[in-house]
This record gives sequence, C-alpha cells and structure tokens, in this order.
Amino acid sequence: MRLLRWLTVPALAGGILVCAQSQKSPQSGEAIYKQKCGGCHGLDGKADTTIGKQWKMRDLTSPEVQKQTDSDLTRAIANGRGHMPAYELILGSERIQSVVAYIRELGKK
Ligand code: HEC
Repeated sequence: MRLLRWLTVPALAGGILVCAQSQKSPQSGEAIYKQKCGGCHGLDGKADTTIGKQWKMRDLTSPEVQKQTDSDLTRAIANGRGHMPAYELILGSERIQSVVAYIRELGKK
C-alpha cells in the first residue's frame, strides 16, 4: 500500500504540471508563432526561409508590415492572404490577438 502511494503522488504531481503547461503555452503568442508561423515566416519573422524566399514574403519586422494596424494584421491572419492559410478557425480570435502582440514584439527587436 505504502509503495503504491509513493508511486502515485509524483505521477499525479507530474500530470498536473504537464496539464498546466500545455494549457498555458498555446495561449502565449510566442509559442503559437513558433509552432504555426515560424516555418514560413522564420522564427525571427524575417521570412528568411525557403518558403519565404520562394514566395517573396515580407519581413514581419519591416516598416511595411509594422505600420499596418492591429486589425489589418488580425485580418491577414484570420482570413489568410495569398498563399497563407486562414487561421480564424484554427486559432480563434484570442490566440490571434496574442500572436499579433508577438509580431509587435518581433518588430521592436
Ligand atoms: C504556409 C506558409 C505560411 C504560414 C504557415 C503562415 N504564413 Fe503568414 N504569410 C504567408 C505568405 C505567403 C504571406 C504573404 C501573402 C501575400 O501578401 O501575398 C503572409 C502574410 C502574413 C501577414 C501579412 C504581412 C504583410 O505582408 O503585410 C501576416 C501578419 C502574417 N502572414 C502572419 C502570420 C501568422 C501570425 C502566422 C501563424 C499563425 C502565419 N502568418 C503563418 C505565409 C504563411
């Protein structure tokens, strides 16, 4: 009995930790960006990737992109643009907002 308790306690604690983390990370704009957007836009947003070059994508940190309003960027992400898929149904508006905030962060670097 005692042995069982020693085994279940860490297992439970680990489970709670993993849950808390997986609940938190998809909400973070940075995590979403790295997971879903970095492959095309590059982790730094500069589109220095094979796809980025092939499609002549703009650098997300450039003034042309940064001068657009949050709602312009939100619309591009939600509805897609050119080769870019629409993310409205995949992410939902809250997560799109946090990704827009992260694009602003990238622009400051
Ligand atoms: C399959 C590759 C691909 C993925 C994945 C992708 N994008 Fe894009 N994205 C593009 C392309 C291509 C464009 C340029 C579209 C055009 O104007 O022709 C673009 C344009 C944009 C723009 C508008 C920038 C501008 O040029 O004005 C924003 C903002 C953007 N993407 C954000 C994101 C975010 C945030 C994600 C992740 C949720 C993402 N993208 C995922 C390919 C991608």
